[in-house]
Amino acid sequence: MKLSNIITHLIFIVTTVLGSRFPFRRKTGGIALIGDELKQTPFPEWLTAFTGMTQWPGLDPPYIPLDFIDMSKIPDYKPYHQGECDVNPREACSFDCDQCIAHDDVRSCPKLSQTFDDGPSPATLRLLDYLHHKATFFTLGINSVNFPDVYHKIQEKGHLIGSHTWSHAYLPSLSNEGIIAQIQWSVWAMNATGHHTPKWFRPPYGGIDNRVRAITRQFGLQAVLWDHDTFDWSLVSNNPLKTEQEIYNDVAVWKLTENRGIILEHDASRKTVDIAINVLDMLGSDQLAVSGCVNGNDYIRVFN
Ligand SMILES: *[C@@H]1O[C@H](CO)[C@@H](O)[C@H](O)[C@H]1NC(C)=O
Repeated sequence: MKLSNIITHLIFIVTTVLGSRFPFRRKTGGIALIGDELKQTPFPEWLTAFTGMTQWPGLDPPYIPLDFIDMSKIPDYKPYHQGECDVNPREACSFDCDQCIAHDDVRSCPKLSQTFDDGPSPATLRLLDYLHHKATFFTLGINSVNFPDVYHKIQEKGHLIGSHTWSHAYLPSLSNEGIIAQIQWSVWAMNATGHHTPKWFRPPYGGIDNRVRAITRQFGLQAVLWDHDTFDWSLVSNNPLKTEQEIYNDVAVWKLTENRGIILEHDASRKTVDIAINVLDMLGSDQLAVSGCVNGNDYIRVFN
C-alpha cells in the first residue's frame, strides 16, 4: 500500500468513527453520535469494577493490565509505521509487508465469501436487508458501543461478529501495551453490547506480525486475513484505487477462476454497502462465515 492510500483510508475510518458523515450528531464523552434517539451501550458495572472507569474511552483507549497476559511471551520487535517494512526481520512474519501467514491465521475459504469491516454503522442496516446467508462482520469497538442497535440487528440475523480493534489502529506501530489496549477494549465493547467474547480478529490494514499475534493469541483470538481485496473503501476517498466497474470485473474474475477465498469489504458507508450488495448479487448466497470456512466456533464464550 502506498502512503497516500494509507492516509486516505485512515481519514475515511476516522471520519466514519466520528460520525462526521452524518447530519445529526451530538457529543457524548468526546464521541460524536448520530441521532438523539440512538443510545450508547451503557458502561457496565463489571467493567467499572475492573477498570475504575465509568465511560467508554475515545480513539486512544487506556491500557489496563490483565493478569492472564504474559509479557515475556511477546517477541521484542521494534514498532514501525505502516509501509516501513525494512525495520524487522522476515521472521517477524508480517502479513501486510511480506504476505506472511502464520499457522493459525485464516487466510482462505472453500467458498468465495464476503467479509465486512469497520462497522457497525447506520449503513450496515441496508446491507442486512439483502444478506440471506450467515456472513462475517469485523466490528470496531468504538462503533459497537455507539451503534448498539445496529450491532444487535447483526446478531439477531445470525451473522458472525469478530473484532477489528477498538479504533482501527495500525497495531505494529504501537507498544505492547498499546496493542493490548486496542484488543481489550474491543473485546469489552463486544461483550458489553452483544454478551459474547470474540474468537476471530481482523487486523486493520492487514497489520499483523508475530509481536501482534503473541498478544492476540493470549486473548484466544485467531487472525483472519483475505485472498481478495476489493479496495471498495478507496472509492469514498480522494484517491480511488479502482473504479466501481473495475471492482465488479475483479469479482467476476475471482468467481470464474478459483471461485473460493475471503473477500475484503467494508460496511461503514452507504457507498461501500451499495457495492457490497451488487457483489452479493453477483456471487449469490452460497457463501460461508469465517467460522464455517475452517469448521471453527463462532465465539470464545457467549453469556446469557
Ligand atoms: C463479559 O461480561 C460478563 C457479564 O455479562 C462479565 O461477567 C465477564 O467478566 C465479561 N468478560 C469479558 C472478557 O469481558
